[in-house]
Amino acid sequence: MTSSDEVRPYSNIAPVYDILMEEVDYGAWADYVAEILSKHGIVPRARLLDLACGTGTATTLLAETGFSLVGLDLSDEMLAVARAKAGSRKIAIDWRQGDMRRFELDEPVDAAICLFDSVNYLTEEPELMDCFNSVRKSLRPGGLFLFDMNTIHALSQNWGNGTKVRQDGEVHSIWRSCYQPCDRTARMDLTVFRPDGNGGYRKLREVHVERGYESGEVEDLLRQADFGEIETYKHGTFSRPEADTARIMITAKA
Ligand SMILES: C[S@@+](CC[C@H](N)C(=O)[O-])C[C@H]1O[C@@H](n2cnc3c(N)ncnc32)[C@H](O)[C@@H]1O
Repeated sequence: MTSSDEVRPYSNIAPVYDILMEEVDYGAWADYVAEILSKHGIVPRARLLDLACGTGTATTLLAETGFSLVGLDLSDEMLAVARAKAGSRKIAIDWRQGDMRRFELDEPVDAAICLFDSVNYLTEEPELMDCFNSVRKSLRPGGLFLFDMNTIHALSQNWGNGTKVRQDGEVHSIWRSCYQPCDRTARMDLTVFRPDGNGGYRKLREVHVERGYESGEVEDLLRQADFGEIETYKHGTFSRPEADTARIMITAKA
């Protein structure tokens, strides 16, 4: 799927990920997660798994509010940024390199979270099923799984087909997207130019592919993985999603 100048997603761009995400209000995201957790009786001191934790911004914020965190990600490069971030704030987090489709924890967690459309990177139903089964096994009885997804509407309309150019401080980027209705996958061809420290720029390129799922499909797979009490919200609210909702939040109980 990748040509010679493309690399594994979230390897090259790890050092600039936080710059590209600067407009995301992770404080609001962490507050929303904490509010959902608290509605389920999961409060600070509880043990949380942040699956696909990336550079650990939400992980660190939740740890700062008193939760005990395990942060797991496939990308060593993203984890290196996460470790440095938590280390500079003197926050202890148990970082693990691992695959959300197949992982095991030594001790169960009270809740698993998976944020910022990381689940959409699982582009085949069996991968989603493997992830849900691994999460189910990692939760204590009655524990909560909470994750957001880009909807089909977001991938087909917001990513859609087109090119956007951005400048974030000294980082310049080109985002070329292409949506395939036949398998509901959106491909983002991302080219980033970052300062090389010698007055020039270094070019980085990655291809990211996300798949859109119907809520019903996801709920069926969660039930097959033995989750119950499944709720789907318009992200950031406790309301039902609408036809043009771009991001949904799903909660499911073990
Ligand atoms: C959009 S980023 C989200 C990162 C973080 N959750 C956030 O909110 O900023 C997607 C993350 O998913 C991770 N990822 C993708 N596939 C994965 C897999 N199979 N197992 C674990 N992590 C994965 C990537 O390495 C990346 O860090």
